[in-house]
Amino acid sequence: MTSFMGMLITIDGPAGSGKSTVSRRIAEELGIPFLDTGALYRALAFFLHRKNIPPVEGAVLDAELAAVTVKLETNAVLVNGEDVTQSIRSPRVDAVVSAYAALPSLRRKLLDLQRDQAGEQGLIADGRDMGTVVFPRATLKIFLTASQEERASRRWKELRERGESCTLETVLEDVRRRDRIDSEREVAPLRAAPDAVILDTDGLSIEEVVQHLLDMVAARRST
Ligand code: CDP
Repeated sequence: MTSFMGMLITIDGPAGSGKSTVSRRIAEELGIPFLDTGALYRALAFFLHRKNIPPVEGAVLDAELAAVTVKLETNAVLVNGEDVTQSIRSPRVDAVVSAYAALPSLRRKLLDLQRDQAGEQGLIADGRDMGTVVFPRATLKIFLTASQEERASRRWKELRERGESCTLETVLEDVRRRDRIDSEREVAPLRAAPDAVILDTDGLSIEEVVQHLLDMVAARRST
């Protein structure tokens, strides 16, 4: 049996490209840990927004970032010991997270925490800058993409299944806004690493994407 222990796989891509679902499935199939870095950005954005700390660099933000603790547990993210796993998935956090994630000091705060997750067992890390900044030496780098309309429609269905009331138009607007802020920011913008494999998932089911990526992992493993 092939062992996938120690493999470091990065999956980057824009909002709604299916990164988290696909990464989680692949991590299960391969038996290696999964890191959802969006949850870390969401957790800090949720915490700071609730405290009315604006997404602006300066002494106020520095003091907050120096004092706050972010901790990852198997299926939870904790901020100052509070489990915020559910609260960070709301449209309210969707609306503010990219502004906070564009702040260099906030990104610096999360860098070591992310890198520390890559142990002997390997890791699948999903986010925006996994292949470019956080894990530039990853074994396999994937960049998932799809049209804005398809991504918005996936995200809308997901939110409705969770009981959130929102229209497809507002979700599409959110996807467009986050794409713009995430791609245009100066530090660690959303971008495929030069050595990433780009996969357009328009019209593909989750199953198809997962299978395609598993084939790629197996091929990479045997080279
Ligand atoms: O699941 P979805 O693609 O909607 O978002 P997410 O992965 O949970 O990430 C939420 C936001 O966090 C993104 O829109 C980015 O602004 C930020 N983020 C980032 O800047 N860098 C990462 N590595 C992961 C997320």
